[in-house]
Amino acid sequence: MLDGLDLARPELLSGQSLIDGAWTDCERVIPVINPATGRKIGDVGDCGAHDAERAVAAASRALPGWRAIAPRTRQAALLRWRELILANAEDLARILTAEQGKPLVEARGEIHYAASFLEWFAEEAKRAYGDIIPGHQPDKRLLVLREPVGVVGAITPWNFPAAMITRKVGPALAVGCTMVLKPSELTPYTALALARLAVESALIPPGVFNVVVGEAEPIGAVLTQDPRVRKFSFTGSTAVGKMLGARCMSTVKRVSLELGGNAPFIVFDDADLGQAVEGAIASKFRNTGQTCVCANRLLVQSGVYSAFAEHLAERVSELAVGDGLKGQMDQGPLINEAALRKVERHVEDARAGGASALTGGHALPGEGCFYAPTVLVDVAPDALLCREETFGPVAGLVRFETEAEAIGLANEGTAGLASYLYTRDLDRAFRVTEALRYGMVGVNTGLISTEVAPFGGVRESGLGREGARQGLDDYLDYKLMCLGLAPDPGGRSG
Ligand code: SIN
Repeated sequence: MLDGLDLARPELLSGQSLIDGAWTDCERVIPVINPATGRKIGDVGDCGAHDAERAVAAASRALPGWRAIAPRTRQAALLRWRELILANAEDLARILTAEQGKPLVEARGEIHYAASFLEWFAEEAKRAYGDIIPGHQPDKRLLVLREPVGVVGAITPWNFPAAMITRKVGPALAVGCTMVLKPSELTPYTALALARLAVESALIPPGVFNVVVGEAEPIGAVLTQDPRVRKFSFTGSTAVGKMLGARCMSTVKRVSLELGGNAPFIVFDDADLGQAVEGAIASKFRNTGQTCVCANRLLVQSGVYSAFAEHLAERVSELAVGDGLKGQMDQGPLINEAALRKVERHVEDARAGGASALTGGHALPGEGCFYAPTVLVDVAPDALLCREETFGPVAGLVRFETEAEAIGLANEGTAGLASYLYTRDLDRAFRVTEALRYGMVGVNTGLISTEVAPFGGVRESGLGREGARQGLDDYLDYKLMCLGLAPDPGGRSG
């Protein structure tokens, strides 16, 4: 077993996919690499289209029984699964850190975040209310029923190997849908461990939740094109999301997309600078800069630019970088070499445009994909770093003069997921929030994610919302029951 993994229950680290309640081996395998060391953790089975189709068939068979049971029975199943996740949280966190790289403290946080979606949607299972509408004619009654959409296909990313799964499977199972999940092949062990615990709960019947690990293309093709899949949910890059969403239209599936962001983080002259620096650290350096809601470009007003930059650089230079399984780290590795190269390209491009590094600005020597936490000043607004998601530990600071200029810069581009602003002026907080074309705005905070609030973007950052009561909507269809009444024998109608 991998150095330092030390699991209380080693059987949670398994490479078998879950199809129709059975653990499945495959002919081919995919190696899973620890990005902190470059060493192999193990091999997982590489399922193909045939296994994905078997999983879809199993989910279709399981659907009528699962949707027919009382919501409180589904609630009990989700709560039992959640209990098992929390009881095994340390093992899950260690597996997550080994394959994803985030420091153990962040991995523990993610496991609790993941469990919170099961708790929230277990509670919401009982609240999938419909409507009764006053009839448009005296002899008509209108009832709007809410029904599960059916079999859900889901593809989840490597940056949150646990929470992005429960954020989809929680609402799906709560309202009576069944699911086939394809987790990222870079971080499949966490998903498979969660699946083991779902089976262990003994309250989620075979076929209700299937996990199919493998290369993206063959499995993705089934999940986006099989007519039995009625809803498709994806978290990942905008380019891939657009392509998968388009494929779903051949069978007109419901589609939820949680795609890339390019979050502006605006610091006005009247901000509390200490609070703004801490918020920037929390947002920019969460998961080593590898979240869709990480601040991507820091827009700082000229009156506080130098003070903010110096204070931020001082704090960033103190961040401990290393293997999350070995001691207290603040920053882990990037997920792979390609991610490291992208960060290097962004920093080189910013430098070519006149930026300089107050701290960091280079990859770290030795094993693993580590990049030094970096603060760049004098970044040009048209630098790559401002136009594309960097997905790495690089805070690039752009100077601005006026509120209107900040709003203009922030709204540039096509992304619209998260944005942040720091000010002590309440009028400005509302004015700028309303002007920002983003699905989420953090005001004087760098952390906005919670299971109780709707997470999602506008423009090219996605469709639909996850978490909160809105998170149920994407898994429910409306059905109108238009009831015609017989004429009133007493002649009172009309
Ligand atoms: C993401 O990066 O896609 C999700 C981040 C979060 O839930 O905060």
